Amino acid sequence: MTVTIVGTQLGDEGKGALVDRYGGAADVVVRYQGGDNAGHTVVEDGEEYALSLVPSGAVRGTTGVLGNGCVVNPQTLFSELDDLRERGLEPDVRVARRAHVIFPYHRRLDGIEEEAKADSGEEIGTTGRGIGPSYEDKAARRGVRVGDLLAPDVLREKLEHVVPQKRALIEDVYDADAGEECDLEALHEEYADYGRRLGEEGMTVNCGDYLADRLADGDNVVFEGAQGTCIDVDHGNYPFVTSSNPTAGGATVGTGLGPTVVGDGEVIGVVKAYLSRVGSGPMPTELDGDDEAEALATEIRERGGEFGTVTGRPRRVGWLDLPVLRHAARANGLTGIAVNHLDVLADLDELAVGHAYELDGETIHTPPTRTEAWEECSPVTRSFEPWPDVDWDAVADEGYDALPAAARTYLEYLESELDTEVYAVGVGPDRDQTIELVDPWDRV
Ligand code: GDP
Ligand code: IMO
Ligand code: MG
Repeated sequence: MTVTIVGTQLGDEGKGALVDRYGGAADVVVRYQGGDNAGHTVVEDGEEYALSLVPSGAVRGTTGVLGNGCVVNPQTLFSELDDLRERGLEPDVRVARRAHVIFPYHRRLDGIEEEAKADSGEEIGTTGRGIGPSYEDKAARRGVRVGDLLAPDVLREKLEHVVPQKRALIEDVYDADAGEECDLEALHEEYADYGRRLGEEGMTVNCGDYLADRLADGDNVVFEGAQGTCIDVDHGNYPFVTSSNPTAGGATVGTGLGPTVVGDGEVIGVVKAYLSRVGSGPMPTELDGDDEAEALATEIRERGGEFGTVTGRPRRVGWLDLPVLRHAARANGLTGIAVNHLDVLADLDELAVGHAYELDGETIHTPPTRTEAWEECSPVTRSFEPWPDVDWDAVADEGYDALPAAARTYLEYLESELDTEVYAVGVGPDRDQTIELVDPWDRV
């Protein structure tokens, strides 16, 4: 049985918290795309864990898998594993041998390319983790895969091919100093060492085979999406996107299991009750432009702790965007939604959502395909009655009916607009601060 958890918006919707919530019944949690650009937070009894690469099931001791669709920085992986062990956890993580490896030259190029774009104001605002450059190498068929780290001779051959190209790119195209990121000997030594450690700890797997066996044994598998639908390289506001497919289709390509496996399970879209974004790109419902809007954005940002988990950058904040959610419901084939952060919106002076967009005098209900047109959309807003601040722990204990009536109206509006059920409601960051209406494991 499988449950796929995806971000419906622009990342940071609270996917980690929901994976952890459903993780009690899961035997395996699999990341299927992205890399250490992700920052997933799990809070257990007030203790906070911020995970970039290790799947969020680790906090409960569930086996984690980094699927073939991921790009893996072994430096991050091992330092995260070491940190978790120091905190008393015993993470069991497997890495697909078909996953691609992020090298220091990828991170360097990520930075150089962003700087070059900044001159013309076109930077994406990446996390600087080398994600784009490493997916570029994968598509260009010059990437190094995790399996290659296990064979030092093969690793050397691949590095001898690729490193001079990176050096030339950095020096000749960008007129920068190639530095230690292109020191072939040092790279070979460090990465062969990671290969040895991966081998010794028995961490690598043929991902598709491994997961198929676990499913055949009757295990429950969670696919943990990173990022979100509107920063998906195909379905997001390109080019202000990440370089992978966070949408549910990525769960099949990025693991080696067929679409029927994912489609037979549940697909839950995580919805932040408002909108946040790190990095550039269209955001028609953004709260900005005048003092009143910016004061509201500041209030929500402060209350919601809207500062990047990975980079610490303040996140842009806006009202919930229904065109984005309708797009996500279709692109992911959502069977249910989990709506988080209701507590953050409590007691505001005003509350609204972007119900539709207006573009060139027309009202549209889903985002336009061209990003330039998306930028030009203005929101058609709908006002909602704000709900009061209440004892959210008590509400979490008592369940859905204990939510303020205005909050229930907001959730029911979402259900009706997206034609899908609310499975869970987040009223705080802690595992216990989620109201569960539907247990997805009962549905699969
Ligand atoms: P992810 O990338 O989708 O896993 O989300 P992040 O962990 O980057 O960001 C979500 C933030 O919101 C984290 O700090 C969570 O602990 C927190 N969070 C999750 N659900 C809720 C909620 O319902 N209410 C509040 N106040 N915080 C939440
Ligand atoms: P989680 O999994 C929010 C954004 C970056 C940038 C764009 C491209 O925690 O939701 P990249 O480094 O991937 O090439 O950056 O995507 N971005 C995220 N925004 N949450 C994330 O992950 C993100 N991962 C990447 O800010 O705009
Ligand atoms: Mg995050």
